[in-house]
Amino acid sequence: MIAKVNRESCIGCGACASVCPKVFEMDEEGLAIVIATPVPQDEEAGAQEAADGCPVEAITLE
Ligand code: F3S
Repeated sequence: MIAKVNRESCIGCGACASVCPKVFEMDEEGLAIVIATPVPQDEEAGAQEAADGCPVEAITLE
């Protein structure tokens, strides 16, 4: 699984980094970045939860 953050949409709410800190991190611009590519198998559920929880649907999983 590959996670992507659309930084045009991300509003920096930080939910993804709270829910799944091994995959998402906030950068110095206050926007989310993906720090694990591919997403480790045991983090896939967390990444899915983060994607589902993003208020602006900025996270896509492939
Ligand atoms: Fe941005 Fe959504 Fe995460 S708004 S900080 S990608 S939960």
